[in-house]
Amino acid sequence: MSIEWNNKFETNISEIDTQHKRLFFLLGEVENLYNNNKGNLSQKSKEIKEAISALEQYTLSHFLIEERVMEDNDYPDLENHKELHNKFTDKIFQGKEQMMTSDFFSDEAKVDDFLQHLIKFLNTWLTNHIMVKDMDYKPYIRHTL
Ligand SMILES: [Fe+2]
Repeated sequence: MSIEWNNKFETNISEIDTQHKRLFFLLGEVENLYNNNKGNLSQKSKEIKEAISALEQYTLSHFLIEERVMEDNDYPDLENHKELHNKFTDKIFQGKEQMMTSDFFSDEAKVDDFLQHLIKFLNTWLTNHIMVKDMDYKPYIRHTL
């Protein structure tokens, strides 16, 4: 299930909220590709890899901006928050690397299982992270970039 935006995700920092919406959109693109091509995922290998790469790139730039906002506002838990970001980007990176191996898309059942788990992990992590960890910095932010 793609993530629907709701007010539990709102940091009230407009550029951060806009970026979080974009992250949900990009993750939704991966999920749509998976849902719409079940049984035929190997035929969509190029699009799936591109969608994961787009998500990865946007995540990296978003985290950098978010970390700069926290840093500029002297958020005391910045280092822990960065650690969490790094673990998440590692997970996307690893997923992408696995998909890039030459025979990855040759086993439809394996691809299905892999994508199903990856999408579930990314959805769960992202929603929890925004609702819990990003809300932690919210009261500290007095100005944005
Ligand atoms: Fe964050």
